[in-house]
Amino acid sequence: MLILGIETSCDETSAAVVENGRNVLSCVIASSKRDFEYRGGVIPEDAARKQLEVMLPVIEKALSDAQCDVAAIDAIAVTVGPGLLGSLLVGTTTARALSVLWNKLLIPVHHTLGHLSSTWLVDNSPSPLKDGSGAGATFPILTLSVSGGHSDLWMRTSHTTGTLLGSTRDDAAGEAFDKGAVMLGLPYPGGPALAALAELGDEKAYQFPLPLQEQHGMDFSFSGLKTSLKYMLRDLGDRIGNLSVRQSIAASYQLAICRHLVSSLENAVQNFPECTEIHIVGGVSANSKLRMMAAELAQRHGITARWPSKLVYCTDNGAMIAAAGYFYLSNNPEALNASFKTSATFSLSMTNS
Ligand code: KG4
Ligand code: ZN
Repeated sequence: MLILGIETSCDETSAAVVENGRNVLSCVIASSKRDFEYRGGVIPEDAARKQLEVMLPVIEKALSDAQCDVAAIDAIAVTVGPGLLGSLLVGTTTARALSVLWNKLLIPVHHTLGHLSSTWLVDNSPSPLKDGSGAGATFPILTLSVSGGHSDLWMRTSHTTGTLLGSTRDDAAGEAFDKGAVMLGLPYPGGPALAALAELGDEKAYQFPLPLQEQHGMDFSFSGLKTSLKYMLRDLGDRIGNLSVRQSIAASYQLAICRHLVSSLENAVQNFPECTEIHIVGGVSANSKLRMMAAELAQRHGITARWPSKLVYCTDNGAMIAAAGYFYLSNNPEALNASFKTSATFSLSMTNS
């Protein structure tokens, strides 16, 4: 089955053609991030205006890169939320129109289900791929999904079923990176910039308190870390002008975020010994420190750690939406062409079976 995936939930406009939920034939991503580099974050109206301009050319390029005629596409999967409403509407309106014009099935996809599906993506496989369970990975799987909009820990029993074990009580992990980066005068998006600054720093130089230590379960909280950083920078005064101080602050702050994420993940690993895999997905899964710590955790417990095969599949992209559309449709055939609403905020509900 060939699915055209469309993703426009934030400042990216992406379209991809994916075969059977895994084999990526093309993935085109246009981003307006550069416009927001020194504005502290995305300006929603500006992002949506840019997306209107590039949506159709991005889809055309995805089809031509995949060397795929419109006639060969079986369905269109589109992100229906959560995200920036104007941006989401560019994607869903386009998908609705094309599905009527081209007479294609339409699959509404929750953005987070897209991230959860991203670990299965493989580029241009020469041989047919089995779905996730045949790819060497076996459910149940513990998945840490960490982006600029959410931080969730799932125990997944299949591609589309599972239980939410914990989520953030305030900021998302990506937001903690982004807001910390703003305090350090780094460009948006802060995650990659802060990680780059941290590379040469001493991560043990500054101490940040581990959040939620009193009632440690599987939830997350990042607002305390952000406040600690604020006061640390204030107390450092002029010394913050020194590059090695800034590098060490960034490294220590990054370590604190990753420690908090991995400590909840470790609690989950201990509570669910039947899970022999941990996956990390979402924009923050691009972070090398987090990957290293997740790999160490997996090794300590004799299990496997996985993340998306390419950095572009960590951050927002159309391929993960096409994959999620495929898995969602396989498990919920009734969802096909069902009416849906585009929504800025709604939770991913997965039944537990
Ligand atoms: O999944 P994503 O592209 O968009 C949302 O759904 O939010 O995630 C974007 C987030 C941003 O907060 C960005 O700073 C963060 O992912 N991010 C990173 C890295 N690359 C992206 N955070 C830490 N380290 C990175 N290397
Ligand atoms: Zn995302």
